Amino acid sequence: MSKFYVTTPIYYVNDSPHIGHSYTTIAADTLARHMRSVLGDANVRFLTGTDEHGQKAQAAGQAAQEFVDLVSVKFRNLWKKLGISHDDFIRTSEERHIRTVQRALDIVYKKGDIYKDTYEGWYCTPCETFWLVSQLAEGQLCPDCKRPVEKISETNYFFKLNKYKDWLIDHIKKNPDFIRPQIRRNEVLGFLREELNDLCISRPKERLSWGIPLPFSPDHVTYVWFDALINYISAVGHFDDKGAYISDWWGKDTNVVHLIGKDILRHHAVYWPIMLHSLGIKPPDTICAHGWWMIGADKMSKSRGNVVAPLDMIDKYGLDVYRYFLLREVPFGLDGNFSEEAVIRRLNSDLANDLGNLVYRTLTMIEKYYDGNIPAKELPVASCQLPVNEQEKKIRNKINSLPDEIAAKFTAGSDFNFSAALEEVWKLINLANKYVEETKPWNLSKENKTKELERFILVLVDAIRAAGHALKPFVPGTAGEILRQIGADQIKKGKPLFPRIECS
Ligand code: ME8
Ligand code: MG
Repeated sequence: MSKFYVTTPIYYVNDSPHIGHSYTTIAADTLARHMRSVLGDANVRFLTGTDEHGQKAQAAGQAAQEFVDLVSVKFRNLWKKLGISHDDFIRTSEERHIRTVQRALDIVYKKGDIYKDTYEGWYCTPCETFWLVSQLAEGQLCPDCKRPVEKISETNYFFKLNKYKDWLIDHIKKNPDFIRPQIRRNEVLGFLREELNDLCISRPKERLSWGIPLPFSPDHVTYVWFDALINYISAVGHFDDKGAYISDWWGKDTNVVHLIGKDILRHHAVYWPIMLHSLGIKPPDTICAHGWWMIGADKMSKSRGNVVAPLDMIDKYGLDVYRYFLLREVPFGLDGNFSEEAVIRRLNSDLANDLGNLVYRTLTMIEKYYDGNIPAKELPVASCQLPVNEQEKKIRNKINSLPDEIAAKFTAGSDFNFSAALEEVWKLINLANKYVEETKPWNLSKENKTKELERFILVLVDAIRAAGHALKPFVPGTAGEILRQIGADQIKKGKPLFPRIECS
């Protein structure tokens, strides 16, 4: 496919973004940067945004719009600080989104896939949630906040999920890359073996006024998931007069990838493809659900009160240390434990000891033995005639295979394993460092083995350049700095790229 469209969830404007939100966004950024290097900037689209019709804004009443404006800006400012390269930022309170949601509702309604029903249930007003009798605490209390629930009867609109259940099962089975990793695909198939209830997609306006009015029932607003999921298409296209969806980013030639956390798997892997199918739009190619960042045994989340702010981490350790840690520490898909000790470990070993040291020692040698001039841009003939050295051969092979090895990890079939891709880069870095230790260049210099020394330095320069290019999508700032230092006409070792942090 010649085009690539990647998205993050649109985050609730409940509160300030934490590490978990930044994780999905940094992962999508890395993937987008990589794909731009493959397909060209114009053929890649990267979307993120904010989901603004949630409870918190509703609670702000008249001031809802002001409230969401404020929090939405916090997200955008954070993405700027994290070097996120999104092409668009969608807000569900924007006119372009509201228009598309209403068109979509209208199309699905006219198709007969939305119906009205009245139901009775136990309702917790503060939590704004319906509960089954069997879920109530002590038979009469909300299981979340432990306050009394009320029995209420309400008329709402329902979307016919169940009608398309068999289609969805078939689609999942025929498309192994549709839900990744495999464990999440199995989870969804398991869920679909049970009865699938239709989805309630409205709330009475008197109970929830902050939302998109249903076009066929102005006394109701659209309930949040039907609204939120549409962002992925409202940002990149529109419905024409006949109800056909027109987009440059959702055709046969575009690979559509949604990156999400596993908490919202069902919404993306069940509701969303069925909504699209009812609208006559093809499902996304891949929904990849990553794991959770945990603090000890708990998921990091506002409600658990254990969140860490990305900006604090960046101020303390630097942007690329933060990006590197998140991408390297756990394979995309698995849960990870967040701690500053773990960040410091990665900083000291991978970044300072391995990468930083390789660059620093190589620049130092070029300064010392060659007055800062890289001996030759290409291997001189005299050096070429030296017998082949096994270590050099290994390094050269790794330099040549690295781009393909990385590209192979940036695929749905590999679950976008950023960590494994970085591991390949570090194999090269480690080979190069080992080569320095085993060659003992200071002896080559003493013994006047100029051809050997020259050839040795050039291998290191090429290894560093290859690592620099490979690192661009992950740590763009550092990669740029490495390439700048090694590409300069007159080489001067600067400060080490990553100063170690001593643990107290
Ligand atoms: O669910 N570890 O928004 P949300 C890893 N608005 N990732 C985490 C995380 C953690 N501890 N905590 C949050 C919503 N995330 C809806 C989405 S999409 C059409 C609508 C990340 O603000 C992860 O990507 O609760 C997760 O799926 C998302 O934030 C949930 O963000
Ligand atoms: Mg959430």
